[in-house]
Amino acid sequence: MKIAVLGSGGWGTALAILLLENGNEVTLWSYTEEESARLQSSRENPLLPEVTLPEGLRFSTDLSCVSSCDLVVMATPSFAVRNTSRQVRPLLKPDTILVSVSKGIEKDSSLRLSQVIREETGGDFPVVVLSGPSHAEEVARHVPTACVAACEDCALAERVQDVFLNERFRVYSSTDVVGVELGAALKNVMALCAGCCAGMGYGDNTKAMLMTRGLAEMARLGVALGADRETFAGLTGMGDLIVTCTSLNSRNNRAGILIGKGVPIQEAIAQIGAVVEGYFAVDSARTLAQKVGVEMPITEAAYRILYQGAEIRTVISELMQRKKRHETEERWA
Ligand SMILES: NC(=O)c1ccc[n+]([C@@H]2O[C@H](COP(=O)([O-])OP(=O)(O)OC[C@H]3O[C@@H](n4cnc5c(N)ncnc54)[C@H](O)[C@@H]3O)[C@@H](O)[C@H]2O)c1
Repeated sequence: MKIAVLGSGGWGTALAILLLENGNEVTLWSYTEEESARLQSSRENPLLPEVTLPEGLRFSTDLSCVSSCDLVVMATPSFAVRNTSRQVRPLLKPDTILVSVSKGIEKDSSLRLSQVIREETGGDFPVVVLSGPSHAEEVARHVPTACVAACEDCALAERVQDVFLNERFRVYSSTDVVGVELGAALKNVMALCAGCCAGMGYGDNTKAMLMTRGLAEMARLGVALGADRETFAGLTGMGDLIVTCTSLNSRNNRAGILIGKGVPIQEAIAQIGAVVEGYFAVDSARTLAQKVGVEMPITEAAYRILYQGAEIRTVISELMQRKKRHETEERWA
């Protein structure tokens, strides 16, 4: 199969390697000439330490590389998905499958990224979402990993499942696109918060509370938007939440730790040196929650800290003193 991967950050590069190893003809597209030249000359991506880019991987900065492809992987940061989709639309051949692997909710529209891609490509091309607990660094080092390929059309999800899976990258299929995409976007909010608590010196109890109650509010929003509650207990919900909230590989977690230690927010984000999707996801998730009238206390608390300058300790104390409630309130309402 001919495949283009758009975006040569850690994730785009790791997936390009995987797809090449699966016997496909793969072109890795970079946003800048410098980035592409660096990858080609060093045969390394600094975001994937100790991984050599394999022979046979092609490089390009020309988006028309998609024109002969059967499948195009959209792996840019979330803020660039709309523009990239708009630019590739006239270059794609009919029936090209678009695979969205970026994680986030678009800032101003509050749309999921597959919705953004559909909007910009006029619904002419099938879109499948690939998501799950998957650090690029580990996938590139062949660490056993599992993800989910989601599409309303189950047969299409299964086609993409076949393209990506191998003996160290297990792929499940799903038809719950809403749940899969929201899990991926919202866990970044919780990772920032988990990092923040760790940075403040709080312990495992706080992290466990945050992850569990975070998952509850993620699922609450998801269900209100049409997702299946069960999806949040799976790889793209609980799975991704575990990996992001507990690992120092997660930029969102690391940014949170710095913020919790008192580093000013913009300085903390700058220190990470790459896109901290969770920062934008907090704003988008809060807007979405307000739109559908769903309560998301942790997301709201994160918004107050990140965007309104609220004092972290005060916000946490207020969260702890919210009105008492039943743990599974949804079932008792
Ligand atoms: N890194 C991971 O482990 C991982 C795993 C799963 C999903 N993701 C998601 O994949 C997406 C990409 O993340 P990443 O870690 O590969 O890289 P990243 O966020 O560091 O950046 C990806 C690439 O986007 C390019 N880029 C920057 N501005 C651009 C623009 N305006 N238009 C087009 N491209 C632009 C950069 O040159 C860079 O190569 C994110 O949404 C992320 O949440 C990442």
